[in-house]
Amino acid sequence: MSAQATKASMPVVILKDGAVQSKGRVAQKNNIAAAKIIAEIVQTSLGPRGMDKMLVDSLGDVTITNDGATILKEIDVQHPAAKMLVEIAKTTDNEVGDGTTSAVVLAGALLEQAESLITQDVHPTVIVDGYRKASKKAIQFLSEIAEKITPNDKSSLLKIAKTSMQTKLVRKDSVYLSELVVKAVLAVAESKNEKFSVDIDDIKVEKKAGGSIASSIIIQGIVLDKEVIHSGMPSTIHDGKIALLNSALEIDKTETEAKINISNPQQMKSFLDEENRILKTMVDKIIASGANVVLCQKGIDDMAQHYLAKAGILAVRRVKESDMAKLAKATGGRVITNLDDLFEKDLGLAETIQERKVEEDNWVFVEGCKHPKSVTLLLRAGSKRVVDEVERSIHDSLMVVRDVMELPLIVAGGGSPETFAATKIRGWSKSLEGREQLAAEKFADALESIPIALAENAGMDSINTLTSLRSRQIKGEKWTGIDVMKSKVGNMKTSDIIEPLAVKQQIISAASEAACMLLRIDDVIQTAASTPHNAHDDGMPPGGMDGMGGMGGMGGMGGMGGMPPGMGM
Ligand SMILES: Nc1ncnc2c1ncn2[C@@H]1O[C@H](COP(=O)(O)OP(=O)(O)OP(=O)(O)O)[C@@H](O)[C@H]1O
Ligand SMILES: [Mg+2]
Repeated sequence: MSAQATKASMPVVILKDGAVQSKGRVAQKNNIAAAKIIAEIVQTSLGPRGMDKMLVDSLGDVTITNDGATILKEIDVQHPAAKMLVEIAKTTDNEVGDGTTSAVVLAGALLEQAESLITQDVHPTVIVDGYRKASKKAIQFLSEIAEKITPNDKSSLLKIAKTSMQTKLVRKDSVYLSELVVKAVLAVAESKNEKFSVDIDDIKVEKKAGGSIASSIIIQGIVLDKEVIHSGMPSTIHDGKIALLNSALEIDKTETEAKINISNPQQMKSFLDEENRILKTMVDKIIASGANVVLCQKGIDDMAQHYLAKAGILAVRRVKESDMAKLAKATGGRVITNLDDLFEKDLGLAETIQERKVEEDNWVFVEGCKHPKSVTLLLRAGSKRVVDEVERSIHDSLMVVRDVMELPLIVAGGGSPETFAATKIRGWSKSLEGREQLAAEKFADALESIPIALAENAGMDSINTLTSLRSRQIKGEKWTGIDVMKSKVGNMKTSDIIEPLAVKQQIISAASEAACMLLRIDDVIQTAASTPHNAHDDGMPPGGMDGMGGMGGMGGMGGMGGMPPGMGM
């Protein structure tokens, strides 16, 4: 309450003027409605037959995408419950890369099912308990059907990469692109005691609009979107010995303001000569190390450029810090901060360093690194918007291949694992006492929102499809799912629609955590600054402010020092 009164009728102002509060059922109803709206937005983009979204930001920039996390990031939602769904898409994207749409759809379905129980007077804490148990069970059931694969078995990895691309604009080129993705991940994967680990940051993804998607390439090394700094330098170096510098090849500016009085031209000359001598000394140190390429994170003075060019050294300046780390990994070199520490052993090695034209720009390709623990995917597509979406799809694909290398367990796609878990949960729920059983059953219904959405988006009859799927799964056909490309229920494993277990488990745990968190909320207090000006415009469901308007009014009264009737303490 924004204002409460003491016995002596003194108002106690708790919330600031303009704060909005909703309580109990109203708060729950609003949260569920907001989350459902978010889930509905992304639901139509689920699966290979899902639609894309065109999103226009405040500056008029257009993004066309099918990626759940990107859609939600771009729409900039206001409602706190809606924001939580955006959060789970983000977390899922960071954790496993794929499955962001499914996580949001499942969270929406869990809340929708919970709503029907709340109207039957099942207390939210009972629903939360039931959901938590069911989610743990679902994750366990999935690991029971998951199949082990050899982590570096290329053919399985290709299928997984390809499945993740089936739902994206790059589907047509998925055979070619999955080759690139798998090659890249295998190149950077490290193995220790038969366990693999992959740092996805070791794969640099560069993109350039122009050309076809099929002209995308993998480079066993790094591509820098920078040009060679001096026209007198060679544009190609073979057997490159690369100095990776983190210090500027420039004269340091003094921190304090200093003034030098020069009284004659001779002094001026010796001053400049001294500057040149310092720069020459720097370049001499580089030459002495045996380097024929300089890749510098900082600036390179014109005079230093001249000396480098004279020595036949190829140089690039202002290389990004993240690229320097990748270059060190790819070439085996060491990033040097002080030129006095530069020796031959610190130089990175690469077969060729070459400046090439990529559309209108000149880029430097560092290729043929010995044991490249860092590689680059150079993505191409007809236009900027398409190449942006290609990049997002490649991100999902790289991540699923990484997921399955780190946890080499797979399940089928096409709604098959969700239906399997739902069937199992229905059986197991009978062992639960009391109303938790109802919650567990609803959890099973919510899991089926995934096959339902897949079928609906493909224009299939969702009820017929789901019933046929259930009956075949009960007969023990655990790999049966919806092959939406063929519009039929079938064995997904033989159709090579397989996905990492890690993704499916992340979807379930993220969605149920978010749903449980929202269900436990019975009070929403928005302070004035975060209160939407127009709740309907900002994702607040129609009617979602029921009972809230009055609260806003009270907040106002609190601020004015007035006391609503019946507020005495
Ligand atoms: N050929 C196919 N037939 C049937 N289902 C498929 C096929 N290919 C992929 N799927 C299914 O599509 C679903 C994935 O859809 P989609 O990629 O649109 O969303 P997501 O992976 O949940 O989220 P994200 O937006 O992060 O990719 C998975 O359930 C997957 O099994
Ligand atoms: Mg996907």
